[in-house]
Amino acid sequence: MPLPSCADHPSWTTLCHGESIAEGQARGFDLDGRGQTTVFVLRWQGQWRAWYDWCPHWRTGPMAWRRDAYFSGDGQSLMCHAHGARFDPLSGACTLGPCQGQALWPVALRLDPAGWVQIDPAQGPPLPAPEVAGGFDVTDFHRPATQGDNT
Ligand code: FES
Repeated sequence: MPLPSCADHPSWTTLCHGESIAEGQARGFDLDGRGQTTVFVLRWQGQWRAWYDWCPHWRTGPMAWRRDAYFSGDGQSLMCHAHGARFDPLSGACTLGPCQGQALWPVALRLDPAGWVQIDPAQGPPLPAPEVAGGFDVTDFHRPATQGDNT
C-alpha cells in the first residue's frame, strides 16, 4: 500500500519510532501538552492504527484507566474504562457496551521510510475540553445523565 502523500497531509506530526510500540501494544500521546492524551497509536496483527483518545459513548476521553492501557485484559480489543465499551482495534467499531453501532474516530497515520510513526491530527473529532474545542458547544459533549439512560 503506498504511503499517503505529504501533499494530502501537510500537517504530518512525528510521534515516535515504530519500534517503540510492540505488536499488540498501544501508546497514548498528549498532542496539546495538557497532561492528557488526545491520540493513541497501536500495532495489532501487523497493522497500525491511530485513534483519537475519545469515546463515542459520552464523546469524551481519555479512555485508558492508566497510561497506555487501551487494550482489554485479554488483549483482544480496545476498552474504554469509563463504562467498559469494547472496540475492534482495526476498525474502531464498538463491539460491546453502551455505544454499539458507533466507532472510534480515526487519525490519519503512516510510517515514513525510516519507520517513524507520523499522524495528521488535523482531521479529528471535536475534543472535549473547552479550551481545546474553542468554538463548539461543549454542552453537546457533556449531555446530562438521566435516570435509566445508559446509552
Ligand atoms: S464513556 Fe466510554 S464507555 Fe462510556
